[in-house]
Amino acid sequence: MGAIGGAIVSKRGAALSGAALTPGDKSISHRALIFGALADGVSEISGLLDGDDVLRTAAAMRALGAEIERTGDVWRVVGGPWRSPDRALYFGNAGTGVRLVMGAVAGAGVGVRFDGDASLRARPMGRVLEPLRMMGLEAVDTEGRLPVKISTGSGLSSISCKLASPSAQVKSAILLAALGANGSTRIHEPVLCRDHTERMLGVFGVSLDFEGDGSAGRFITLEGGQKLTPANVVVPGDPSSAAFLVAAALITPGSEITVQNILINPLRMGFYETLRDMGADMTIQNRRKESGEIVADICARHSELRGVNVPVSRAPTMIDEYPILSVVAAYATGETMMNGLEELRVKESNRIASVEAGLAACGVDVASGQDWLRVRGRGRVKGGGHVHTNHDHRIAMSFLVMGQASEEPVEIDDGAMIATSFPDFVGAMCALGAVIDI
Ligand code: S3P
Repeated sequence: MGAIGGAIVSKRGAALSGAALTPGDKSISHRALIFGALADGVSEISGLLDGDDVLRTAAAMRALGAEIERTGDVWRVVGGPWRSPDRALYFGNAGTGVRLVMGAVAGAGVGVRFDGDASLRARPMGRVLEPLRMMGLEAVDTEGRLPVKISTGSGLSSISCKLASPSAQVKSAILLAALGANGSTRIHEPVLCRDHTERMLGVFGVSLDFEGDGSAGRFITLEGGQKLTPANVVVPGDPSSAAFLVAAALITPGSEITVQNILINPLRMGFYETLRDMGADMTIQNRRKESGEIVADICARHSELRGVNVPVSRAPTMIDEYPILSVVAAYATGETMMNGLEELRVKESNRIASVEAGLAACGVDVASGQDWLRVRGRGRVKGGGHVHTNHDHRIAMSFLVMGQASEEPVEIDDGAMIATSFPDFVGAMCALGAVIDI
């Protein structure tokens, strides 16, 4: 069952049980396609997320010259030198796709126009264009927003820079541009954020140097002129998608589920660490290594949860999970305080505003400020709200989870955007026993 546009109603049902898989990790899926397209020869990817965002990146890679074919679960990518496409690359809703490809295009030395949907046009691109301009990129934009036209003019130079905020998209764009720059580029990352680009560059034969033990950040150095060699990638399940299933089990009495084959990269685990602080009954088992990443199965059981103060330092490792954490917090007892959330205002929607309005519509005691959210949980939720998702997939899934244990059903206005990251979310939830009416 795929995600369907229009309103969706989520109702309290029986306990959730059984095993589930989530689609491939979105961050790793984008990178696998981009790296395969850059590597001269054939790379094979399995487990790729078949969601709208990633399909936009696949289309962009084709327009830049890669051959991409899918047979069953295996995507065969024939990469090589990139060419300037004759039309703008359209990225739909995909912030990761557009920002990473901007860096890769800069490194590949081709001219490209980038565009996206209304939400992506409203999101900041200056954070990526600024360091790329320091490297010599020529970009035409309107106040740091799409559409953007870029060309490399007389080639790129290496830079030494410090990331202004912990953004893996910005870090990745600089690293991908650095591949085509003269000399070695050095990035100071004061606060660590997801490192899939660094790990996967290694899998594709690129060498990077790391200094620092992580406690005071780290320095990453990449020597320009390195070529990627083709590689095979197995994409693990997405912990950001698994978060919805795990949350549903934790709040629904009697539930016990296992989500299998999930990426457990420590720089993605902030949500699960917070759940543990809240008293969640979870087990992470069957750990193994796959394509440079660690994967495992996560077993979650219904739990009596307590509110917590989420450390600000944890934000980069759970940045996409605050909406679903806010839903879980409403079912906990006591106050959950989330600080350091300014980035949530420039995600697929203004997530502070979307979460606050949705929780308030469902009778939850919630308050917010410029960079914080506070939820006072009472161990149960009234529900009955009509929730505006603001075209944001994570808001849609969060509130469908909320409806599983609320006294009255929860309705979301539109489920269409769920297809960007978890196309079979409704099917996966219903297979575990959820009651969701499309
Ligand atoms: C991503 C990085 C994060 C995250 C996004 C995926 C990535 O964005 O929110 O969903 O794949 O690099 P920022 O880098 O803007 O924090």
